[in-house]
Amino acid sequence: MLNFNYSIPTKIFFGKNKIDVLAEQIKNCGSKVLLVYGGGSIKKIGLYDKIIDIFNKNEISFWELSGVEPNPRITSVRKGIEICRTNKIELILAVGGGSTIDCAKVIGAGYYYDGDAWDIVLDSSKINKVLPIASILTLSATGSEMDAGAVITNLETNGKLATGHKDMAPKFSILDPTYTFTVPKNQTAAGTADIMSHIFEVYFSNTKEAYLQNRMAEALLKTCINYGRKAIDEPENYEARANLMWTSSLAINGLLSYGKETEWSVHAMEHELSAFYDITHGVGLAILTPHWMEYALNDNTVNNFVEYGVNVWGIDPNGDKYEIAHSAIKKTREFFVSLGIPSSLREVGIGEEKLEKMAKQATSRGKLGKFKPLDAPDVLNIYKAAL
Ligand code: NZQ
Ligand code: ZN
Repeated sequence: MLNFNYSIPTKIFFGKNKIDVLAEQIKNCGSKVLLVYGGGSIKKIGLYDKIIDIFNKNEISFWELSGVEPNPRITSVRKGIEICRTNKIELILAVGGGSTIDCAKVIGAGYYYDGDAWDIVLDSSKINKVLPIASILTLSATGSEMDAGAVITNLETNGKLATGHKDMAPKFSILDPTYTFTVPKNQTAAGTADIMSHIFEVYFSNTKEAYLQNRMAEALLKTCINYGRKAIDEPENYEARANLMWTSSLAINGLLSYGKETEWSVHAMEHELSAFYDITHGVGLAILTPHWMEYALNDNTVNNFVEYGVNVWGIDPNGDKYEIAHSAIKKTREFFVSLGIPSSLREVGIGEEKLEKMAKQATSRGKLGKFKPLDAPDVLNIYKAAL
């Protein structure tokens, strides 16, 4: 196991009606809030009204930034920074999915940065200080509610990049699974694929001695497999929504990755797809993942895939190693299809035209991953296999 420092600072309030803590938690940071949300789902589910009522009853002044896009744009970040500066905001409250929370995080970091906010997306070392962030999560997927990263899109440059700073982790997040009852089937499926991908990115690793982290990762993967379809079939199944929600946070908050070398190459490849074609992140991941697995499978990595097949999918450990590995990858692909996710790039409107450009851009900061290092030609091969 590698050395690590454990720090997961976000306070989590999990369960039905946990919004009751909102006012008291906000007041730990101040009383001037920027409320950040997306295209209106929080109004439809009555959450917006509930929050405004809490603000009014507790003398919390608030400003709003609405309309944050899925794959949040740098233009929304700039608008948010402006509102925060003009009104001396003390806390940014994001209510929604990962896009809203990510947007809030970079607003918080951009508030203290003198230049244009895109600079701090390109180079996270330029972030020194962050306005406090908090979140109320409405979609189980990204884990942004409990991590310190954010992903922002710049449509002018077809750039979609991750940035991060320890102080971008929310001060607190309210996780009430009932808020996810209305998440549509396709987003529930994409969210489940995203959670699983976060686990794969740290599970498949060169670090051999992280037994504990690997068993925890397998438990989280099995939870996604057990509850992903159930949440689609029974959107108001509290048990399914609750298990997915908590898995979303634990998958990427550091618990599984501490002490390990991590990969993150499927994410880097997917970010290009959403940067150029604005597709849903989890859909791109589900399409690419089985192809990445096939590409990564070799004599050095086969035991990792056997472990995955046996421990997660219950495949008989006594068979041929490669048969077990291929069967595990097939089961992964079939699972994503069973959730209703497209299985090829063409199905989501992506053809051959920009694959080379995307492969170059995905590797512009160097090779992807260490478990299976990928150069631009490797990425291109994976994109082509996924067509
Ligand atoms: O905009 P609204 O109206 O709220 O609708 C949203 C949006 O259309 C809707 N939705 C959310 N909660 C709902 C709901 N609809 C009905 N009922 C509810 N309760 O779902 C749509 C998608 O929302 P979005 O926030 O975009 O989804 P997600 O949470 O999957 O976030 C995706 C973004 O996060 C980034 C992705 O790249 C993408 O930009 N990621 C962030 C990460 C992080 N911060 O650590 C890691 C991830 O790997 C990922 O890259
Ligand atoms: Zn992701």
